[in-house]
Amino acid sequence: MFLECIECKATYPDSEIIYRCPKCSGLLDVIYDYSKIDFRPEKLTQPPSVWKYKPLLPIKGRIISINEGGTPLYKCGRLAKQIGIRELYVKHEGLNPTGSFKDRGMTVGVSKALELGVKTVACASTGNTSASLAIYAAKAGITAVVLLPAGKVAMGKLAQALMHGAKVLSIKGNFDEAFRLVQELCDSGDFYLLNSINPFRLEGQKTIGFEIVDQLGWKAPDRVVLPVGNAGNISAIYKGFVELQKFDIIDEIPKMTGVQAEKAAPIADAFKKGAKDIVPVSRPETVATAIRIGDPVNAPKALRAIRNSGGMAEIVSDEEIVQAQKDLARLEGIGVEPASAASVAGLRKLIEEGAIDGDECIVCVTTGHLLKDPEEVMRVCDKPIGVEADIKAIRAFLK
Ligand code: F0G
Repeated sequence: MFLECIECKATYPDSEIIYRCPKCSGLLDVIYDYSKIDFRPEKLTQPPSVWKYKPLLPIKGRIISINEGGTPLYKCGRLAKQIGIRELYVKHEGLNPTGSFKDRGMTVGVSKALELGVKTVACASTGNTSASLAIYAAKAGITAVVLLPAGKVAMGKLAQALMHGAKVLSIKGNFDEAFRLVQELCDSGDFYLLNSINPFRLEGQKTIGFEIVDQLGWKAPDRVVLPVGNAGNISAIYKGFVELQKFDIIDEIPKMTGVQAEKAAPIADAFKKGAKDIVPVSRPETVATAIRIGDPVNAPKALRAIRNSGGMAEIVSDEEIVQAQKDLARLEGIGVEPASAASVAGLRKLIEEGAIDGDECIVCVTTGHLLKDPEEVMRVCDKPIGVEADIKAIRAFLK
């Protein structure tokens, strides 16, 4: 196993603490000697979980785990009918232990931190990454430092970071500024950076792709649709599919389809314009605070994932996100935070535009749990109705 620059293909040992290529600043990928790895469905007999796929994960020693992964893949008939799709599944990552997909990355990232002998881990976050990092660091007995954009982190996520004992710094700035600062902090070598620029973390997240294929009976769907913020997840899932193809487990890579919020959509903008690089958005804004990101670090990986898989990128409004959140909740019983609903909102739009064939088998990834952001729910749902503690009053009201 080694690290490889996605741009200049320079390679580095996996024991080196680097986040970008020292030669050209390119992003890094973890590459294995695939010829030495036995990865066959018939050998993988446990129920789905991150560590079921250990032969393709970069950890040799102690594992810090709280049973991440193994999330349900729901077949969603009512939503499929409403949107106009033959076969629709929702992979509900909100049912991970801390309520988001970040746990898949953190179980690997924090285990790697221990392997590297690191004592303090750090991240900038729109919320979920910090919650997950706080919890895995607590479990590992190391310190977590998290930089959050002040006033823009949903309450459930902040509560988790605080209760699990992270050092929580509220930055007077947005996520992009917090991320710039945490990179500078980690460049000193005292802190280990566990944002999605860390290629080991993304190795954990690629197991979403493994699980989708596993849960469909080792078959690939036609398309995977997911929200995109800092763009690590779409890149990770794509890498997972590429590896399954290397092992002849799937023939075709699902079309990776990323969805961004209207005022935070640099990747979708670049895709639609056919541009090679993104133009960062300086003041991103959206109800989906998890993806309120203007300068996604993994944009080069994400654009390749989308283009190489024949996928797409779409932009949705806050209203469309909230409507999709309600549809998931009320048609399928799936409670998600706003960012997660962007996947379904984007899919609906692509179908309406005729950009996607309704005859496909599609998986939407819902990335975080409804209870992460209770304040948003109180804003977008009707208030509870006050009634006297009296059966007549209740009956009269229910008529
Ligand atoms: N959905 C949720 C619920 C998220 O928390 C995030 C990212 C994304 C989607 C986008 O994933 O960044 O890999 O494209 N949240 C990060 C955080 C940025 O700090 O928690 P991505």
